[in-house]
Amino acid sequence: MEATAFAPGRVNLIGEHTDYNAGLALPFAIGQGVTVRARRNGGRQWIAYAQDLRETDAFDSPVQAATGWRAFPRGVVATLRERGYDLAPCEMWITGTVPQGSGLSSSAALEVSLSMALLALAGVNESTVDRMKLAGWCSTVENEWVGARAGPLDQLAVLFGTANHALKIDFQTLEIATVKCDLEGWRLVTLDSGSSHSNATSGYNRRREECEAACRELGIPSLREATLDQLSSLRSPLRQRAQHVFDENKRVLAAVAALRDRNWPDVALLLTQSHTSLRDLYECSNEAIEQTVRYMLDCGAEGARLIGGGFGGHVLGLFPPSAQPPQAAISVRPQGGARLM
Ligand code: GLA
Repeated sequence: MEATAFAPGRVNLIGEHTDYNAGLALPFAIGQGVTVRARRNGGRQWIAYAQDLRETDAFDSPVQAATGWRAFPRGVVATLRERGYDLAPCEMWITGTVPQGSGLSSSAALEVSLSMALLALAGVNESTVDRMKLAGWCSTVENEWVGARAGPLDQLAVLFGTANHALKIDFQTLEIATVKCDLEGWRLVTLDSGSSHSNATSGYNRRREECEAACRELGIPSLREATLDQLSSLRSPLRQRAQHVFDENKRVLAAVAALRDRNWPDVALLLTQSHTSLRDLYECSNEAIEQTVRYMLDCGAEGARLIGGGFGGHVLGLFPPSAQPPQAAISVRPQGGARLM
């Protein structure tokens, strides 16, 4: 018995570091992603092949922790078994087109494609899978096995992606609304900054702690509840972190309105404002990212910003129809979400 699943990466148009603050974001799934083919092997061990890396991992139950890509198949097998799924040992062939460590969510693509392939192999009908729950389980893998205290943005974008639409996600209610994203000749591209990104080892977890500390000081459950007056009472750098989240939520709403009006110049402006805030208030940029943002703007982008957790990874640029994006850039547009093949 065999099953194959594909899960896309994602680009977050705007709304960065808002997901774990019960805020708003506007991501979309992209065409590039990860494919997992799984086959029962009748043996006692799970065997995973990272085909692009030419590396292998073998493990049995109870599953032991591991680092790097090996944390993902191990974490997915253990997490699904803990949820009561009867997963028999199998072989998993993993291959991908979304660059790793890029901020394009190769991690969520891997967690979701592994989960969907393994569930199908266990005889679970794809249409009965609760995608909201699955996003939560994949988040658990990220938090407990990979070591990044990331929010659910990436998994939701990967699982709920819709062609030609961005997803307005409200992380307080987990409500997802599709927003038409008709590029009309404009182009969204990402370009590698040359500095690698990892949520588990960068300042990401530290930023999340700072947001939690700000909430404790203000006596509120999440930064979504913070008022402008309250922010000024916070000490530095908690004030700057909270200010970014406060403004970024507003920018998401402004971007939704701009998309509805097909006002791409306004979207571009919001992207650049988001970047400035991520750099100056949230302090999750670095020199390589700054150079890449400047380069995108020099090449004619009307807006550019770091994407994902930051501290490395790709930069997003929005180019008007008249401009030519850099040769090395990857073109991205909203595509459908994860699926069985
Ligand atoms: C990473 C995390 C997400 C989110 C973004 C920042 O991509 O995985 O949960 O926090 O960073 O917006």
